[in-house]
Amino acid sequence: MSDSDVWLVTGASRGLGRAIVLAALDAGHRVVATVRGAHDLPAHPRLLVTTLDVRDRDRAVAVVAEATAAFGGVDVLVSNAGYGLIGAAEEVSEDEARAIVDTNLLGALWITQAVLPAMRERGAGHVVHVSTVGAVGTMPTLGLYNASKWGLEGFAEALAAEVADLGVRVTIAELGALDTEWGTGSMRFATPLRAYDALRERLFGTSDVPWPAEGTGGGTSPADAAAVLLAHVATPDHRLRVLVGDDAPAQAHAAMRIRLADYARDARWPAD
Ligand SMILES: NC(=O)c1ccc[n+]([C@@H]2O[C@H](COP(=O)([O-])OP(=O)(O)OC[C@H]3O[C@@H](n4cnc5c(N)ncnc54)[C@H](OP(=O)(O)O)[C@@H]3O)[C@@H](O)[C@H]2O)c1
Repeated sequence: MSDSDVWLVTGASRGLGRAIVLAALDAGHRVVATVRGAHDLPAHPRLLVTTLDVRDRDRAVAVVAEATAAFGGVDVLVSNAGYGLIGAAEEVSEDEARAIVDTNLLGALWITQAVLPAMRERGAGHVVHVSTVGAVGTMPTLGLYNASKWGLEGFAEALAAEVADLGVRVTIAELGALDTEWGTGSMRFATPLRAYDALRERLFGTSDVPWPAEGTGGGTSPADAAAVLLAHVATPDHRLRVLVGDDAPAQAHAAMRIRLADYARDARWPAD
């Protein structure tokens, strides 16, 4: 990648996506930012803002065509759009389950499929998937969110091996808590069942859902997270997974320890 690449960022209206757009512009790149509606991205000669609901596969292809017409192609895709859903497995409706998989998993697949042909032909490109430490472990009542991001990581890890020889690089960014609206205004909620009130009380200090949309998400600032991702893309660091956010390493470590401890109870598990 060079000093003036073309970046395509989904879910760029707010939060991390918006911060990545601003950081990429600051770094001298040309940027295609996709939004679904209102946004306050600045007018900038190196920025094209266009619409994309990531569930719309045809529109994903059209957005890449727009990027190619405007800037000649896409060098770096940041598949960032996504949201969380609070609901125990038993509480989540069919529509809610399908919607989060359509967005967080299939939406990421559609935009990846849209950029890959040209990257493959050029023998260069970088696909960054925004995931979460919740795709290493899980949290009760976030199971469908976890499932959507575990699914994302499944195809992204396979993809990395599929395209490595074709010159295309893949990164999975595993985020810890970021100070965005992900956990507040953006969070969706399944209809609660009383049986899970005590669990919610333990997890969140209240059994009440939905919780208030206002307030801060807490955690790492989106600007700091964007800086980590830009630095990662700019260096020939061929790690597949990058931990982003102050709490991310400890969260991922704790989840891996639990899994390894489980496997270690199998007498056939190899000793270190
Ligand atoms: N914040 C955290 O603590 C955290 C932790 C781990 C992972 N993540 C992941 O980081 C990514 C960015 O989230 P964020 O923290 O920046 O949250 P955010 O502030 O809520 O921003 C989410 C973005 O995704 C967009 N989006 C949602 N559904 C979409 C769809 N169907 N089509 C197109 N765009 C859609 C939103 O667009 P609208 O403005 O139109 O709604 C918004 O731009 C997500 O994938 C999230 O799961 C966040």
